[in-house]
Order: sequence, then C-alpha cells, then structure tokens
Amino acid sequence: MVPPPSLKKIPQTKFTPNIVKKGVNKVSNGVEKVRKERPQPSSSPSSTSSSSSSSSSSKTIVVEKKVVSEEIIQQKKALPVFSARKALVENVNKHSTVIIISETGTGKTTQIPQYLHEEGYTNKGVIAITQPRRVAAVSISKRVSDEMGVELGQQVGYSVRFDDKSSKDTRLKYMTDGMLVREAMLDASLSKYSVIILDEAHERTLNTDILFGLLKKIQKKRNDRIKQLEKEEQEEETKQDPESSNNNETTIQKIKPKISPLKIIIMSATLDAELFSNYFDNAPILYIEGRQFPVQIYYTNELQKDYVDAALVTVLQIHLQYLNNETIKSEEDENGGDILVFLTGREEIENLEKLLIDRIPRLPEGCKELLVRPIFAALPQEQQMKVFEKSPKGSRKVILATNIAETSLTINGIRYVVDTGVVKSKIYNPKIGIDSLNVIPISKASARQRTGRAGREFEGKCYRLYTQSTFENMDDSSIPEIKRSNVANVILQLKTIGVHDILGFDFLERPPLPTIKKSLEQLYCLEALTDQGNLSELGKKMAMFPLDPMYSKTLLKSVEFNCLEEVLIIISMLSVESIFFIPKDKKQEVESIKKIFFSPEGDHITFLNVFREYQRVKGSLEWCFNHFINIKSMTKVINVFEQLVKYCISIKLKIESCENDFEKVRKSFISGFFMNVAALQPDKKYKTMVDSKEIHIHPTSFLFDIKPQYILYNELTITTKAFARNVLPIEPSWLPEICPKYYGSRPIPQDQNSDSSLNTLNQFTSADDN
Ligand code: CDP
Ligand code: MG
Repeated sequence: MVPPPSLKKIPQTKFTPNIVKKGVNKVSNGVEKVRKERPQPSSSPSSTSSSSSSSSSSKTIVVEKKVVSEEIIQQKKALPVFSARKALVENVNKHSTVIIISETGTGKTTQIPQYLHEEGYTNKGVIAITQPRRVAAVSISKRVSDEMGVELGQQVGYSVRFDDKSSKDTRLKYMTDGMLVREAMLDASLSKYSVIILDEAHERTLNTDILFGLLKKIQKKRNDRIKQLEKEEQEEETKQDPESSNNNETTIQKIKPKISPLKIIIMSATLDAELFSNYFDNAPILYIEGRQFPVQIYYTNELQKDYVDAALVTVLQIHLQYLNNETIKSEEDENGGDILVFLTGREEIENLEKLLIDRIPRLPEGCKELLVRPIFAALPQEQQMKVFEKSPKGSRKVILATNIAETSLTINGIRYVVDTGVVKSKIYNPKIGIDSLNVIPISKASARQRTGRAGREFEGKCYRLYTQSTFENMDDSSIPEIKRSNVANVILQLKTIGVHDILGFDFLERPPLPTIKKSLEQLYCLEALTDQGNLSELGKKMAMFPLDPMYSKTLLKSVEFNCLEEVLIIISMLSVESIFFIPKDKKQEVESIKKIFFSPEGDHITFLNVFREYQRVKGSLEWCFNHFINIKSMTKVINVFEQLVKYCISIKLKIESCENDFEKVRKSFISGFFMNVAALQPDKKYKTMVDSKEIHIHPTSFLFDIKPQYILYNELTITTKAFARNVLPIEPSWLPEICPKYYGSRPIPQDQNSDSSLNTLNQFTSADDN
C-alpha cells in the first residue's frame, strides 16, 4: 500500500489491540474484568420504565409515544457493554462507588445510565451523567432520548450553561461537570440525585476534579445521616411500649426526611484508574473489553510548518487514493471510509472547511463525493448531529473536530485519522495570575486515543502530521487542568458551598500552592474575599452568576456606574465566538460594513453598537444578511442576555443604561480585568503591565490598526505570538482609582517586584490553614 507522498510509512509501529491488553496487566491487581458474558435479560423487578429495549425480541417496541427502530435496538445489542450488563449492575448494587474503564465506543455513556434506569435507580432519584464538554452533553442526550423513544427534555434531558433542556420528569440528566458544581452551590447535598456518573474522568477537567472532592464528601455525609436516622429509629422503637409502636413508626417516618445513599460511578477511557480507586477507598475497577482493529500509523518525514495546510493535503491524498488503488476501493466500498481530522478550534476548523470546499469542484472525475462535516460547540445542534449521519453510498465524510472526538464522541465509519498533534489548552501563570489559551503539543496518551478512533469497526490508518521523534518527545499524559489553571472560580464556588478551608479540602490532586495563593490574592483584589479570607457580600453575589469572577465583578461593578444594561449586552456578545461571518470572496465588503459599527472606544462598544442596531431592526434577517451578521450567533447572544437579566432581577439589581457615556463601561471592565492591561511601546508592540511580556492586538480586533496607548483585553491567545482579543482603550490613572487593592501601592504602569500583596497572602494562608 503506497502512503501519501509527503508521509513516511513506519512499518514497525502498528497500532494493535495489544496496547489495551498491556495496560490491563499493569493494573491487574484489583481489576475485575467484566468480559463478554451471555446477553442477560433485564433483571429489573423494581423497574418502572415502560420496557427494556435490551431484553425485547419484538420488531419494534413502543416507549411512550415514539417508536424505537429495529436498527437502534440492534445497534444497542451489538455494543460491547451490552454483554457486561449483568456484572455491571451487580457491582453497582454492591458497592457505593464503582470505576468503569473501557475503550471509547464501548457504549458506556449512552447505555449504562439506561441500564440503571431500567434497574429502578431512577425511582429513588435522578441519574446525573457529567461531561466535560457541552457538545457531548447535548448530542448524547439526543441520542439516548431516541434510543428510549422519548422526547428530549422529558425523561432524558440535558443541562449546559445558558441552555437547560430538562424538566421535573427528567430521570437521566446529561450535564456539563460545571453545571453540577453550580447545582451543588444551591443544594450542597445534591439530594435529588440517586446516582452520579462522572464520565470522561481521564480528561481530568477542573470541574470534574472538584466534583471528585464534593461527591466524596456528600456520599459520606448522606451515609452518616442514614446511619444516624436508623440508630434514632431503633432507639425510638425500644423506648416505645409495644402497643403504641405502630403509630409512632408512622410519625417518625413522617418527620424524618427520606435520604437515599449516593452511588458514584467514575467512567474513564484510559487504564490509569488506580488514582480514582485509591481516592475512593479502593473502589472496584471494572474493565469492559472494547473492540480495536489494527491501525497503521504514518509519520511525516519532516516537521510541518503549517499543519492546517498539511491536513488539507493529507485529506485530499487519502481521498484520491480511492481512484488508483483497487484494494482500498473494495475495502471502502464494503465498509466505508470516513476521515476524522483533529484540529485545535473553531477558527482552524472553519479555515480547513473553506479550503476543502474550495477544492471539491476541482477534484477529478470518478472521485467519491466529499462531505465536509465540522463540529464545534458554537455550531447549531442540527449541524452538529450531521457528523453522526451515515455517509450515503458513493460519498465520504471528512469530519473536522477538536479533541472532543478523542474520547467524548464516538463517530461510526471512521477509517482514517489525520492527527495534527496539537491541542488548545489553558495555561495559568501563577506568577502574574493570568490564564492564556495556548496551542501546545498533545501527549502520547492523546495521540494513541486519536489513533484508536480509526480502528473501531475495521482496520484503519492514522496519519500523524509530525515526525516520529516528535512523538517520542511528547509527554506521556496531559497535565490535569487543576494543576495548570487559575483556581479563583473554584475557590469562589467551594466557599459558596461551605468549604472554607481550601488548603484542607480533600482534592483528588491539589492545585499547586502558588496557584492557590495567587487565586486567593486575585479574589481579594476583586473584593470577593474579606481581609479574613471569607466570602464578602460582593463575593456571594459574584458566585451566583455562571461567569468567571472577572466577568461577574465587572457586571456587579457596572451597577455603581449605572451601566449594567450595556455591560450585560457586551458580556452576552463576548460569549459567542464570532458575530460576523466572512464569506471568502467578500472580505473587503465585510470590512467596510464593519466600519459602520466601529467605535474608537473599543471592541466592546463596537459590539454594543451591533447589538443595538440588531434590536432596532428587530432582528431582521435581511438586515443581518446585508451586514454579514451571523444570525445564529445573535440568537445565542439574545438567549444569554435574557438569562443574565433573569439572574440580575433575581438578586434585585437595577438595570440602568448610561446612554452613550462609555467611559463608565470601560471603567466597569477595569474593575474585573485590571490584570489584563498593557502599554504601547515605542516599537509599536505592547507590554503587559503586570509582567512586561510582549503581546500584540489580534488582527480581528477593531483596534488592530489604531493601537491605543493603554489597552485592556479579555483574552490572551498564544499561537505564533501572544494575541490580545476584545480590546478596550483605557487611561492608566483609572487603575489605582478603581483597583486600589492591586494598584494602590504599585507604581503605574509597571512594576514586577512589588511585594504589596504578600501580607494579604500570608493572612489568607493562615485563615485557610485554620
Ligand atoms: O461512552 P463510550 O465511548 O463507551 O460509547 P458511547 O458514547 O456510549 O457510544 C456508543 C455508540 O453510540 C457508538 O457506536 C456511537 O456511534 C453511538 N452514538 C450515536 O450513534 N450517536 C450519538 N449521538 C452518540 C452515540
Ligand atoms: Mg463516553
């Protein structure tokens, strides 16, 4: 088989199922293998669900109103998890915490919650299934509602930030891990849940890590309470004389709230589950064997300067092979040959999409039809679901995804994986207290997961757009988010839940001490914490909003500046990735249209102008079309805006407008983003005020050519350079005026040696150590 010309074939590096087996041996102590057993009929005496699809032999089964197709029933039965059902359920019945590991695509996320539902677990409460990403929560809940033949939002629902499709009838709730943390802020014992499944635990997102600690605490608290109630009941019984005991029992039951134990299930796609097991008192680890066909790996001969371009060339080469190679032709005709490309984010996905669409008309005759299918969070749901649709005969899907397709989503029909070897990752610098988004190399573990996606149903190929030595130099696994992020939000949330001693909290792995200290300092400067390190009134309000503390502070401060309306609009506009859509051939036209909205007072005010105009024309489609406004983005903005307004009303904030006095808006943003400021240098570059790092205004900013003397930015993205996005011009004198806690004792514009915060830090540490 001839590899594409720019790629070198490495014959020795076959990806085989051995990789999975090796890992299992490593953790064989304490691992119970749940291997293929005979399919089990549903043993659910307590089940209330209308029927169990897995045990039915009829052609179709009707669950409530919808019909579940025979195809879905067969697909469910064919999943490796199906034959492990009995053993899984038995283990969940027996143990309060269970860890389940298996390859991606085994059926964990879609099936296990349904099994537990059929076994009666939803009679005692709701089953929550957390996901690190909203796209996964939304698309998987849609699939599960189809499998159960129910309306999405009824028995099966989802809850992600700014979008809740669940109701009082919801029994299986797919949600982002962040939403469950937020629910814990309202009900610290998460009492409505009987089972909580932390899915994709190997990803080790910040919120999943926090949930580990919270759930462990809640489980213990519930168990202790149940024991105590039982003891009290026994004592009451022995005290009573036998004749009146019946009456009293009823009274006790009436008074005592019913508490059910909490089952915790941790699901992971990688084998290093011992950390989880140790954390939960040696909870059993169940391994479900998946299916993995061999995948041939190719590396490039040399480093690729532009990996998007390299991905384009590789996709086209794969596509053209079909024309010239009879073996490939027959293999693909039989099983399909979709391509999955891993990129780092929406911009790159859209770039490659455009490049591919541009090439399609020029493909030679006889080629299969090439269907480009992007997937990212901001894409409308119907379009997201298209990645799951089977390619019609004579066509091939090329899916452009971020690392969401690594383990969170299983897409059938993939024969080829194109791995760019990079990922966008948040990195925190505790010295200066700023998060930035960086494009960094993936880990070996990620590279293997990506490769595995090509061999789920048949033999496949993985084209790594990097050299073999690059692979060998990759880290073994990625650093968990909690070790590389700002934890200000985590601290704010934990304190709201009632965890005041942050350093003493039982973390699965604790954030680095300098990070905790810097985040405490940041919260103190944001006035969310008092001098004693307790939540201030402002801090309590900040925690109410589903926003990062810098945004919630800006929002609350804007009330004092009488410009809450403007700030709400701007924050809503900043919540979507792009307001304008830019057709490739109309770049000039779009630029001139953009000028209509432009304000020298900053990108934020320009966005405000777009929003106001959109409101004035009542969201006219024609107006959007003529002004290159992305209608879907604006619909989302309106939704976010309405929800934020609801939060404001619930805490009785006065929504006022400053009309056109935008200085107030800019000052409000300083109150939250005082650390994200930079000054223009004589060489026309910017230097950050907190640590004198060189940064640049991103070309998409309206201020790119204007270059104000001092700027504030909401985001720093590091690719080839460090780019500031969403930029506002500011006056340096505003800094000590609005943030005396941070700038009061610091000379402006820059000073890296200030120890002004040290005293405060020591205070916090001792407060938290108590
Ligand atoms: O969680 P795990 O990776 O073990 O597997 P899963 O997400 O439960 O996926 C099981 C099956 O459901 C796969 O074959 C998917 O292709 C299918 N699925 C689907 O067809 N559509 C979705 N939206 C989600 C999953
Ligand atoms: Mg899954």
